[in-house]
Amino acid sequence: MTDGHVHDAVINSISGPVLRATMRMPFHINEAVKVGPQRLLGEVIRINGSESVIQVYEDTSGLKPGDPVNATGSPLAVKLGPGMLGNIFDGLLRPLKQQGRYVKPGIGDKTNGETYRFSPLVEEGDLITRGTLFGSVTRKHARLQRCMAPPDCDGRVVSIKPAGEYTDDETLCVLDCGDNEVRELSMSHYWPVRQPRPVLQRRPVKGPLFTGQRILDSIFPVGCGSRAAMPGGFGTGKTVLQETLAKWCDADVIIYVGCGERGNEMASVLHDFPSLEDPRTGRPLMERTVIIANTSNMPVAAREASIYTAVTVGEYFRDMGLRVALMADSTSRWAEALREISGRLGELPGEAGYPAYLSSRQADFYERAANVSTLSGKAGSLTIIGAVSPPSADFSEPVTTHTKRYVHCFWGLDAVRAQARFYPAIHPLQSYSRDVDALNHFWSQHGHPTWGRQRQKFLALLEEQARLERMARIIGKDALPPRQQHVLLCAELINEAFLRQSAFSEVDRYCSAERQIEMMQMISRFIRLSRNAIELDHSVESISALPVMRKLRRMGEDIGEDELDDFEDLRDELDEAFEQLTRSAKYEAERDEG
Ligand SMILES: Nc1ncnc2c1ncn2[C@@H]1O[C@H](COP(=O)(O)OP(=O)(O)O)[C@@H](O)[C@H]1O
Ligand SMILES: [Mg+2]
Repeated sequence: MTDGHVHDAVINSISGPVLRATMRMPFHINEAVKVGPQRLLGEVIRINGSESVIQVYEDTSGLKPGDPVNATGSPLAVKLGPGMLGNIFDGLLRPLKQQGRYVKPGIGDKTNGETYRFSPLVEEGDLITRGTLFGSVTRKHARLQRCMAPPDCDGRVVSIKPAGEYTDDETLCVLDCGDNEVRELSMSHYWPVRQPRPVLQRRPVKGPLFTGQRILDSIFPVGCGSRAAMPGGFGTGKTVLQETLAKWCDADVIIYVGCGERGNEMASVLHDFPSLEDPRTGRPLMERTVIIANTSNMPVAAREASIYTAVTVGEYFRDMGLRVALMADSTSRWAEALREISGRLGELPGEAGYPAYLSSRQADFYERAANVSTLSGKAGSLTIIGAVSPPSADFSEPVTTHTKRYVHCFWGLDAVRAQARFYPAIHPLQSYSRDVDALNHFWSQHGHPTWGRQRQKFLALLEEQARLERMARIIGKDALPPRQQHVLLCAELINEAFLRQSAFSEVDRYCSAERQIEMMQMISRFIRLSRNAIELDHSVESISALPVMRKLRRMGEDIGEDELDDFEDLRDELDEAFEQLTRSAKYEAERDEG
């Protein structure tokens, strides 16, 4: 004891972010504690007799044995409220001011005095139950948010503040909960990050999280409230794809967690996002975004927590009845944080040094994605999209294999495609989506009832292409029979004209459902016409030499969202080209006979 006060525990030993302390008062497991004279934030992760093991979320370099540890009486929790949208936080949801890289050690998440405009949605005497939305909140220009009763409260409104400007922890509503218990509600409330927020009901996936990326929406779609992973080696385009999704997907709110990547990887997000425009509203994209940044130079334990913090924030917006998408880049760095802490704890290492509980932690994370009826009876969803960076792009390593068990969509990024600058480098034969059946309805509603079949057809062609290319490498492409050369031609067109889509093209970076359908049907039409031509003994060369081929390959770049009528012209041109081909052949045949 350094300062004469009685403390709850005293540090015995310190190993990086992990320390051991002798308790004078019993702590609870997962209880948040304040460590050392700077009151650094920590969490109790083990208790052995009178000794507790604590992980500390901040730099522990100044701590020494004998320093005090004090209980807080509550689990590690974050404050959820209206100040989150538009801001950048560390792994424990403390605002990261852009000027300094670190949050000042030990600072809490005290209110910064900012006020928000509140309007009540309930009156005196109304009953408020768990999750009731009792008011609306707006901050200058930003999107409408709600004041939500925490998931553990029930009572009758005794008083409610009139519309006006309030800070996020002022009492706005007083509840009589019976038994002389009174509860005060403000715009914000605390929630323990490791505990999923309750819902009325989990519902099956109904519609897609529409992304505007053809290889996703049309081939490997992710349902709204579902979970997807994108594994890929270094430089295969994970970060670009996550950012593209954050910009274009049709979620109401984006939670972007940069987890353990190097500072310069995160820099583009931190730098770009604040200046980006929401393509659909023209307003700053940040207004519907929360960024949680925990780069590799920040404390490793905070990285471990950042994933849970992000999911908790996502669930909070979901509970307002919003569609939320969470991008985590990269879950592998998070798993590495688990491994490091586990090592410090002296636990028995499992596969590749990861702790045995890696898999169950990954499950805990992904299972918090859901399409739900919220406690207040609204429809809300949280979709999780995790990047995975397997060492040497080896998809059989533990983090990738466990991830596969818990996600519905697996978008395997391929180094060969990336090297050929074929983006997005999602490999069609190393990817899958289990949400396809649930999403047939969406495409039918958009006037594309044959989507499922066309998708199957595309994938079958791509599979056959892989098989034939292996063969062609041995016997030479020209030795393949025309029908097989035709397969190669069609697969190449699917790749070039449909799957390839540059994130940096003004015209093609976003592709609406309508445009995706036009393009898919155009390619299907080509496949049908060219197959007929092959059956009529036209050569594959004569087809690939058709001038319209070039236009097909470029249609994504050439025909923009507001030029959908041009697809009709292209269709006519395609029909005309094949008609001419067959006509001229007929003529030649007749001439030869004559
Ligand atoms: N969809 C895309 N369109 C165009 N270029 C891309 C795309 N995805 C990736 N790239 C290129 O590849 C580079 C590496 O991508 P990045 O997302 O940083 O890889 P990773 O995060 O997997 O290491 C980018 O800087 C960009 O030049
Ligand atoms: Mg990256």
